[in-house]
Amino acid sequence: MTRKPIVAGNWKMNKTHTEALSLVQTLSYELGEKDYERADVVVCPPFTALRTVQLVLEEDHIPIDLGAQNLHWEDEGAFTGEISGAFLASLHCRYVIVGHSERRTYFGETDETVNKRVQAAYRHDLIPIVCVGETADERDTGRTEEVVGQQVRDGLRGLTKDQFARLVVAYEPVWAIGSGRTPTPEEANETIGAIRRVLAEVGGDGAAQGIRIQYGGSVSAGNIATFMAQPEIDGALVGGASLDPRSFAMIVRF
Ligand code: PGA
Repeated sequence: MTRKPIVAGNWKMNKTHTEALSLVQTLSYELGEKDYERADVVVCPPFTALRTVQLVLEEDHIPIDLGAQNLHWEDEGAFTGEISGAFLASLHCRYVIVGHSERRTYFGETDETVNKRVQAAYRHDLIPIVCVGETADERDTGRTEEVVGQQVRDGLRGLTKDQFARLVVAYEPVWAIGSGRTPTPEEANETIGAIRRVLAEVGGDGAAQGIRIQYGGSVSAGNIATFMAQPEIDGALVGGASLDPRSFAMIVRF
């Protein structure tokens, strides 16, 4: 089955709304029609820049999809500081990152809250990009497949067939994020293959074969081609390198 690659830029807590505007404009000058045919391109700015980026994408007919970096599982109410899927949908977000390791590490995200957020995303027709990955310690003790398998099983409980089929998963080893270190492309391919086998257990082999699984963690213009050459890897979730429009465009063109 052919899966269209998906390259997403996770801007994290970077870029004011004015900086975001110039980043996305420069990115759109760098990318052409062929690039969008070959890969789905997504940018995930901070919440405060979503409206600005939405407007420039829509007014200039730029075929980059908008994504958010998180959402709350309730639709509205007394949850000071939180953002709901309804708000993101009304800004025409198409994707939302869920369960990024920085949220797991610094903000108490668990597989249970990941699952609630995934459910909320689908309620508002958003496609979750669900992040899984092992720590250095888990890798060193040979537990990578066990850990990511558990994150997939618990994070994706209770999805309908249709929801499951639209899912995007990002495999991001925690130790590779922002560190300049990566697994070898073969190792990443092997773990992503294991993730796909768990997805097949959860939602059936046919659906699992269609789900796009990205690699993330220190992806750069210099290493993207080696990851994309692997049969199980369907794109990338890019942090640091997505803040430079030229690097990100080179990654999209891998
Ligand atoms: P990085 O971040 O590309 O800066 O390593 C990836 C991510 O956290 O999604």
